[in-house]
Amino acid sequence: MLRLLATGSHGLLGSNILPILERYYTVTALDIEEWDITDRDAGNRMIREYKPDIILNLAAYTNVDGCEDCLSLADRVNADAAGIVSDLCVRHDVKLVHISTDYVFDGEKDSPYTEEDVPNPASVYGLSKLSGERKVLNACPSAIVVRTQWLYGHGGVNFISKVTAIARERGVAEVVDDQRGSPTYTKDLAEPIRALIEKNTAGIYHVANSGSCTWFEFAREVFDRLKIEAQLSPITSVHLNRKAKRPRYSVFDCSKLTRDTGFRMRPWQEALQDYLG
Ligand SMILES: NC(=O)c1ccc[n+]([C@@H]2O[C@H](COP(=O)([O-])OP(=O)(O)OC[C@H]3O[C@@H](n4cnc5c(N)ncnc54)[C@H](OP(=O)(O)O)[C@@H]3O)[C@@H](O)[C@H]2O)c1
Repeated sequence: MLRLLATGSHGLLGSNILPILERYYTVTALDIEEWDITDRDAGNRMIREYKPDIILNLAAYTNVDGCEDCLSLADRVNADAAGIVSDLCVRHDVKLVHISTDYVFDGEKDSPYTEEDVPNPASVYGLSKLSGERKVLNACPSAIVVRTQWLYGHGGVNFISKVTAIARERGVAEVVDDQRGSPTYTKDLAEPIRALIEKNTAGIYHVANSGSCTWFEFAREVFDRLKIEAQLSPITSVHLNRKAKRPRYSVFDCSKLTRDTGFRMRPWQEALQDYLG
């Protein structure tokens, strides 16, 4: 079995996909305590010790609003450290899979974003992630950059756990209705990542569950399926007054993934049903 070493493994995505990837790879799951990706020497040590064939870089500073106040931390982890990881992959001849985000786009389009669309981030987080993508592909053109979006999964806090907790506690919940994207079940990223590795692809790929909705519509679907009777009200992003601007529209065109691997992402409603069990 090929050896896969993951960074940032204890986060939402890592804790959901690594148990699946263990079926296909010998997985070493590291997080900041073992390998802080800003530390080049630690990276060298980890690669020498575990001799991975593949590095899956899940580590990131993901506090989108926090990034607005911590520009240097966002840049250090999401951009510079991504560059360090890719340098190390080139040096040690390791295949790199790096994860990025829909926040590289400004959301001003009205039709699904392809990999050829020009990014234009509207937030510090988006800027730092775009810079990370560029550093990765400049240093390591054989890397696979998986852009995904609107993740939810088991463990930790996510949109579904937050909105259902609020509704159960207060009997009402307000959810933004002016951002459209594709809610994506973390577990649904494992097979496409494997397919991209198996087909020895390189470059940027958009990977998200198919179909789209607003956050409000997503919450409506969750409430209906869980039979939560709380009142759900649509609000605008302005009303939420968050520090970082989010894309108004960030639906992905994932046809490049299907064309190059044969893998087709399932509809978000089906994935949600699976998640809710
Ligand atoms: N969640 C989403 O909706 C979403 C959407 C699109 C793309 N993504 C991307 O998907 C990837 C995984 O995201 P996630 O949702 O799993 O994020 P997450 O839950 O925040 O996990 C990230 C992990 O990286 C760790 N980390 C932070 N700084 C590090 C460093 N310097 N060195 C090593 N590890 C470090 C974090 O540790 P601490 O918790 O201790 O900081 C955490 O365990 C990221 O690249 C993110 O940008 C996420």
